[in-house]
Amino acid sequence: MNYQEVLAQARKTLGPLCKACPECNGRACRNTMPGPGAKGIGDVAIRNYDQWKAIRVNMDTLVEGGPVDPSVELFGHHFAYPFFAGPVGAVSLHYGEAYNDQSYNEIVVRACAKNGILAFTGDGVDPHVMEAATEAIMKQTGCGIPTIKPWNQETVQSKFELVMQASPVAIAMDIDAAGLPFLKNMTPPAGSKSTAELKAIIDQCPVPFIVKGIMTLKGAKKAYEAGASAIVVSNHGGRVLDQCPSTAEVLEKIAQAYKGKMTILVDGGIRSGVDVFKALALGADGVLIARPFVTALYGGEDAGVQTYIQKIADELVDTMQMCGAHRISEITREMIWTD
Ligand SMILES: Cc1cc2nc3c(=O)[nH]c(=O)nc-3n(C[C@H](O)[C@H](O)[C@H](O)COP(=O)(O)O)c2cc1C
Repeated sequence: MNYQEVLAQARKTLGPLCKACPECNGRACRNTMPGPGAKGIGDVAIRNYDQWKAIRVNMDTLVEGGPVDPSVELFGHHFAYPFFAGPVGAVSLHYGEAYNDQSYNEIVVRACAKNGILAFTGDGVDPHVMEAATEAIMKQTGCGIPTIKPWNQETVQSKFELVMQASPVAIAMDIDAAGLPFLKNMTPPAGSKSTAELKAIIDQCPVPFIVKGIMTLKGAKKAYEAGASAIVVSNHGGRVLDQCPSTAEVLEKIAQAYKGKMTILVDGGIRSGVDVFKALALGADGVLIARPFVTALYGGEDAGVQTYIQKIADELVDTMQMCGAHRISEITREMIWTD
């Protein structure tokens, strides 16, 4: 199955809100929520995509030849590539009823683990979602990262107990989910956390804790002070706050201040191995890609996800080769061009 075939099949399987565009750039779905779009006027997802494209890569083939190794060590584990599947929740609402959160997570976690990378799973108001995600991660001997919503401390504690049955590599929290329309006025409550509240949560977490949804130096500082092992520089694909900057625009400053102190991940509009390379050159240790994994899975289940992973991996290896990096640790700032 090649990627064009995956997309063609996805167009038959997806509901009406995602068009499985040749390039997932936020334009066709724009402000479609429910659906895969973004909040408000819907230009944050577009800006995420466009700003990666505004960065260019510097070719340098006057280097020693030799094989390229795109593997990476993160959270004490070895992964085939520095990109992972980002969490996506409520898939049947946003992408159509061919899959639900249970079946989606089961397949994405399995297919990613088989191909040497991690999948993050999402959370929802239905407690069965996290139970099924835990089972899916357990079947892959902990190769997966559950992402818990910012519920109150008591609920988070019970979710920790549940997901720890799978011994996951790490646990994440999408701290920016405070901005999701469907989480407003929920029982149990979910929303913003003070640094002290976040610290109390992290102190209870038995594995590395990842704070997803950091867009400023101030936010990174608070996550660091609360004891986070990692952050995801993310604006939730534009779904939580209209008119944010793109992640490509804020990543470098955050990485300069916190690289080596916390693992720095980034997501939002990363659509090729070339984009992955650019994110690493700006200081990220790894990246998440979310929407295209959904399209790949709707278009071919395990085979669709495998095809997509291979496509991004091939592009990354090619870019490393052409820019003179044999290993991920050799990707440096001068290998990219910014205006
Ligand atoms: C339909 C949809 C559902 C999402 N659900 C979650 C979720 O449950 N938890 C989470 O942390 N992020 C969620 N996200 C955000 C993604 O993980 C990711 O941060 C965002 O989409 C940006 O990456 P992308 O541009 O590669 O899609 C969701 C995104 C979409 C489009």
